[in-house]
Amino acid sequence: MSAGEPQSSNSEWHDVCAESELDPEFPLSVEVEGEKVGVFKVGDQVYALEDICPHAYALLSQGFQENGQIECPLHGALFDIATGMSLTEIGQRDLTCHKLKIESGRVWVKLHAA
Ligand code: FES
Repeated sequence: MSAGEPQSSNSEWHDVCAESELDPEFPLSVEVEGEKVGVFKVGDQVYALEDICPHAYALLSQGFQENGQIECPLHGALFDIATGMSLTEIGQRDLTCHKLKIESGRVWVKLHAA
């Protein structure tokens, strides 16, 4: 936990991986407080999104990442990684975006407060 973080939700910051582990073509799946979270690198930016596809049960982090979008490996729903926006009808709804920060080469995630 970093000093000075506002206590805006019940969730805390969690150190999930090293920034150097991230690959722009292969998202990482991590677990934060029992929730599956996908960590995606797009250019110089890193994003944390809910990792379970809203359509059925598939890990989006095992999908195909290209041009800032992630395609579900099961039925092909497409989501915008930067915003979580669902780009196809089959995706059903936008993904929850979690908070993410990078400090000293480590990636920290804080779950989005419901
Ligand atoms: S489970 Fe993702 S599109 Fe069906």
